[in-house]
Amino acid sequence: MDGRRKLLVVANRGPVSYGRSEAGERVVLRGGGGLVTALRSLVAHHDVTWIASAMSEEDRVVAAEHGGDGFDETARDGSVYRLRLVAHDPSAYDWYYNVVANPTLWFLQHYMWGLPYGPDLDLGLHHAWFNGYLPVNEAFAGAVVAELEREPEAAVFLHDYHLYLAPKLIRERRPDAVMTHFIHIPWPQSDYWTVLPEHLRRAVHEGLLANDIVGFHTERWKRNFLRACLDVLGAEVDEAEGTVVHAGRRTVVTSHPIGIDPVEFDELKDAPAVLEEEQLITAGRPEFLVLRVDRTDPSKNVVRGFRAFGLCLDLHQDLRGRVVLLALLDPSRQDIPEYSEYLAAMQREARAVNDRFHGEGWTPIDLRIADNFAQAVAAYKQYDVLLVNAVFDGLNLVSKEAPLVNDRDGVLVLSENAGAHEELGEWAVTVNPFDVYGQAQAIYAALTMPVEERRRRLEETRAHVRSHDLAAWIAAQLADLDAVAPRVAQH
Ligand code: F6P
Repeated sequence: MDGRRKLLVVANRGPVSYGRSEAGERVVLRGGGGLVTALRSLVAHHDVTWIASAMSEEDRVVAAEHGGDGFDETARDGSVYRLRLVAHDPSAYDWYYNVVANPTLWFLQHYMWGLPYGPDLDLGLHHAWFNGYLPVNEAFAGAVVAELEREPEAAVFLHDYHLYLAPKLIRERRPDAVMTHFIHIPWPQSDYWTVLPEHLRRAVHEGLLANDIVGFHTERWKRNFLRACLDVLGAEVDEAEGTVVHAGRRTVVTSHPIGIDPVEFDELKDAPAVLEEEQLITAGRPEFLVLRVDRTDPSKNVVRGFRAFGLCLDLHQDLRGRVVLLALLDPSRQDIPEYSEYLAAMQREARAVNDRFHGEGWTPIDLRIADNFAQAVAAYKQYDVLLVNAVFDGLNLVSKEAPLVNDRDGVLVLSENAGAHEELGEWAVTVNPFDVYGQAQAIYAALTMPVEERRRRLEETRAHVRSHDLAAWIAAQLADLDAVAPRVAQH
């Protein structure tokens, strides 16, 4: 349906964050991550108020300047939206982000525990839940209710695992609110949820079922959620219809894989910063380039990827001296010990592989830890093989972005546990992310695939990515909203 919608986007991370330049002036920094990139384009076409956490010191200053209320901000394309930054108590925010959301919920939802060894859900988690996760969710709920008082007919569009408690808290105060919640990460099977104490796993599922719609990227995560609603809550589930009835409310569960904006990448491909980075890559490139682009997140499976690449070189001596694995890794969540330890493990593994081949005067793994998007796009154009071997991944945008701009008939090696596999699997070389030998052989198969076959796969991947773009994903979200809450006429 055409026309503008009034939307309250609610996500932990905002589209911008504020900082200070060396000269002491306020600077506006682009928010990071897939979610923010995806939602930014909503702002141009709809009347958006974005509610996010004040994350930097300067964010807190900006929030205070506006008395905690929303204010107008201008997007890069000139469209105006309203931003409301919620300044939480710093300790509460730390417990919410660095104890509950990331090391607990993110780990659980990506099956990241070896259960004999972890997790230890000690008093720290319980404390962090009730003194961090709950109050931060309450603050978000309060901000949503305040915004609904301004714009009663706005639909609430919540995002991700930071905000599982907020929908129920909003519903208690605004029974008629129209709410949809998109989960950008996997939903694990019910048994894995039993790691979380019963009252906490019930709170997660009950919180989500206060929404009118809960959305996922894949049928697989949707199926797991429906099943978990039955197993965790005993809710009434209709798998065929994709609905759950619990506590007298009906929630529709949908699956729409997010897309990217092809026009953005068509333009980026020739942007001066990208061309500059590309020159550096082509000047030093070997005959074959294997690429990975990730955040430094343990779910991305970088260590096994390095091991597989080393094994590939052990098994296929003909590749030695001719191929480099370029790993462009964006540092992420470094206040969490599991993340900083994983970063160290990646560095150790890269070193171990490089040392093994050192005598041959060649460095097989080029590991770069930096946030450099122009460099990533330049490398997207230059890879022969793109390695996406995540342990589990909600979707994985790199597997859609990179093929779109690639100039070398590059082949995608893709984990069967990445959400994008549901769409792109037929054109990729599929890998089991735990099978190091299988990944080594997959890298070799991709590097030696005949060019016509590589080209066919790349072209079909591209056609899919172009026709299932970001605009289609947004249209699907709004169509779902229209189905549960037909709109009264809006300007
Ligand atoms: O959905 C997962 C996600 O929230 C993505 O939006 C983003 O890529 C990543 O995680 C960012 O994480 P954080 O906000 O913790 O840096």
